Amino acid sequence: MERRRLGRTGMEASVLGFGGSEIGYQRASLKSVERLLGGALDAGLNVIDTAECYEDSEELIGRAVGERRGDYLLFTKCGHARGEWRADWRPPALLRSIERSLKRLRTDRVDLVQLHSCSLDVLKRGDAIAALETARERGWTRFIGYSGDGAAAKWAVESGRFDTLQTSVSIADQEALDLTLPLARERAMGVIAKRPIANVAWRYARKPAEPYYQDYWERLRALDYPFLRGKATGAVRTALRFTLGVPGVHTAIVGTTKPDRWRENAALLGDGRLPEAEREAIRARWKAVARPDWEGQI
Ligand SMILES: NC(=O)c1ccc[n+]([C@@H]2O[C@H](COP(=O)([O-])OP(=O)(O)OC[C@H]3O[C@@H](n4cnc5c(N)ncnc54)[C@H](OP(=O)(O)O)[C@@H]3O)[C@@H](O)[C@H]2O)c1
Repeated sequence: MERRRLGRTGMEASVLGFGGSEIGYQRASLKSVERLLGGALDAGLNVIDTAECYEDSEELIGRAVGERRGDYLLFTKCGHARGEWRADWRPPALLRSIERSLKRLRTDRVDLVQLHSCSLDVLKRGDAIAALETARERGWTRFIGYSGDGAAAKWAVESGRFDTLQTSVSIADQEALDLTLPLARERAMGVIAKRPIANVAWRYARKPAEPYYQDYWERLRALDYPFLRGKATGAVRTALRFTLGVPGVHTAIVGTTKPDRWRENAALLGDGRLPEAEREAIRARWKAVARPDWEGQI
């Protein structure tokens, strides 16, 4: 598994990471998470991303692989109470959230804490960022980051106060390629691609009932990339290699609940490079079809 330096953090991250929201929201069992993460770590995974609000995700990760803490870089997020989408960006609440995360993850320090998609106004106020800086001073985290999209992500990059940016990058979400990634790269920030295979939203023949998948499903219908009509594994392979070929992207945190999925995707990646002509065709199609309101999806 290829590793890339996560910008100025100096951390060496596996290009294929693990996104921890699905195991929480879809109530994966401890047994399946043990198999999933244990097998993936053995096969070269070293990036695990989660958040306090992803239901049991942190707890499952801590219980499944807490004893192998030295084998992976651990990223979490704060700002939303567990199990809800209600935000609290006040510094004491953020610090309490980070303390809870450490307990659940069975560690005394994570590698990265990210503000979980707070608004531009919250960012500008500055006290939420200061809370993360306090956590870093206290040794609870090595680095701090912003996770989000659009104008807030742009401001976060320009502020110079974050070590990393986690943002949506995929065949169905290309705003960041012009809006934030060039500057993030210039500033040597670590970049984590979230939703990197657009939730494989093209797998649904009809519009999915789950609102989280609907925007990407609609966009992909309009984009109608020819490779999506081919074999399912070939399409995932192209989508993943597109994201990992975007300049400045260091790791793609694909979410799954399936015990063998990470290893299957690692095998699909191959040498990780999408031929230039295919990359250009995806970019050209996006530029021709994308509507102005196709913003980065949280
Ligand atoms: N605001 C934020 O900070 C924010 C927002 C969204 C996401 N995130 C982070 O980004 C991570 C990834 O996002 P995501 O999970 O929404 O999107 P994603 O990684 O683009 O898509 C995950 C979906 O793809 C499916 N999948 C994976 N490999 C596949 C394959 N080879 N063939 C068919 N289906 C496949 C998975 O289903 P199976 O279960 O069947 O494998 C899962 O439903 C999250 O876990 C989270 O850590 C952060």
